[in-house]
Amino acid sequence: TGLYTFDPGFTSTASCVSAITYIDGDEGKLWYRGYSIDELAAHCTFLEVCFLLLYGDLPSKQQLKQFEEKVNDEMIVHEKIKDFYKGFNLNAHPMSIMCGVVGALASFYEYDAKDIVSDPKQRELSAIKLIAKMPTLTAIAFRTSKGLPIVQPDRKRSYTENFLYMMFSDPLDRDFRIPPVMIEALDKILILHADHEQNASTSTVRITGSSLANPFACISAGIASLWGPAHGGANQACLEMLDEIGSRERVNEYVEKAKDKNSSFRIMGFGHRVYKNFDPRAREMQKMCHKVLDELNVRDEELFELAMELEHAALNDPYFQTRKLYPNVDFYSGIVLQALKIPRDMFTVIFALARSIGWIAQWREMMSESVVKLGRPRQLYLGHKRREFVKLEDRQ
Ligand code: CMC
Repeated sequence: TGLYTFDPGFTSTASCVSAITYIDGDEGKLWYRGYSIDELAAHCTFLEVCFLLLYGDLPSKQQLKQFEEKVNDEMIVHEKIKDFYKGFNLNAHPMSIMCGVVGALASFYEYDAKDIVSDPKQRELSAIKLIAKMPTLTAIAFRTSKGLPIVQPDRKRSYTENFLYMMFSDPLDRDFRIPPVMIEALDKILILHADHEQNASTSTVRITGSSLANPFACISAGIASLWGPAHGGANQACLEMLDEIGSRERVNEYVEKAKDKNSSFRIMGFGHRVYKNFDPRAREMQKMCHKVLDELNVRDEELFELAMELEHAALNDPYFQTRKLYPNVDFYSGIVLQALKIPRDMFTVIFALARSIGWIAQWREMMSESVVKLGRPRQLYLGHKRREFVKLEDRQ
């Protein structure tokens, strides 16, 4: 009964009102709080962008300093959290670990549902805790998977430097230092991934939060959604695809395969639900590829050349042109992350680390509304009409 709009995949349904991120998919524009992504990536630090997404305006110097201090104060995780990592299977994908440990934060920071709705301070505190603890939790996932000792955060370092320090510092090397180009590149990657309006994982966080669930449980749900190769998992899948293609001579074969409707193969890092033009993040990522490979003197030029050749072949093919399929952020991010020595199975975790601010800013925006409306889509039922019940002993 009832008349509903049937919109599978929500291609034409606005699920909320938001003032955080604006995308013009036809023009290839992306703005956070009215500022263009290329300007933010060129001039801001990730924490500056976090402040912007969370509070609506760019911070003054003093506001930024206070915000950085607040985040630094919360970077350490409870000792008991570290025990969780021991329970995972040895080869566990770090995204499965992150779903577990971030969800587990809910048991350390329990909120009464009415506090979450009525107390803006509680919401702000949970946002700061999340942003602060994500690098630590991510680095622990990496270190424990390699059997390396856990490294505590260091207050003297910036957010992104701290993350790289917790990931890679070598207890035997007293002179260990992180090349500035690595810090700069990762900081930009975090900015480029920070928010993207109502994508699958953000919508998951919002719909989970709409039942007034614990914010860390909501973020865990977002991480699960991001993991899939059609969403955040595409960065890892893209490098695996480039490996499989292997050489420039085989690019056309794979372009043909992607066009073949009898094959499930798609060019990973290509196409987007909203962008029907260049993804502005992909442009920035491509520029960064040049810089990082040059400055770190990494021998991944071949992989980069292969990616550019594939991009060129697809962009010149009528199949991709008529469907308006362009490279998205994941097409080049894997190459940069690999050059930064981030292992492939950590790529999507870095995406989750970056997107946490977007998720929690969107959650906070929703929870500040005068009425938090429970997310509850309807369906088009195509099952049986009412059937006569037959008892087990009478069934054939
Ligand atoms: N390679 C080949 N064909 C494609 C591709 C691709 N990467 N993407 C879309 N198509 C075709 C698709 O087969 C369909 O063709 P037809 O009209 O003949 O049936 C048409 O283009 C429209 O595709 P769709 O799947 O209906 O579009 P969508 O908006 O539902 O999907 C997408 C968007 C991102 C899931 C899809 O483009 C895709 O699977 N891309 C590869 C995975 C990827 O790179 N994901 C990362 C997205 S950006 C980062 C993020 O947000 O997480």
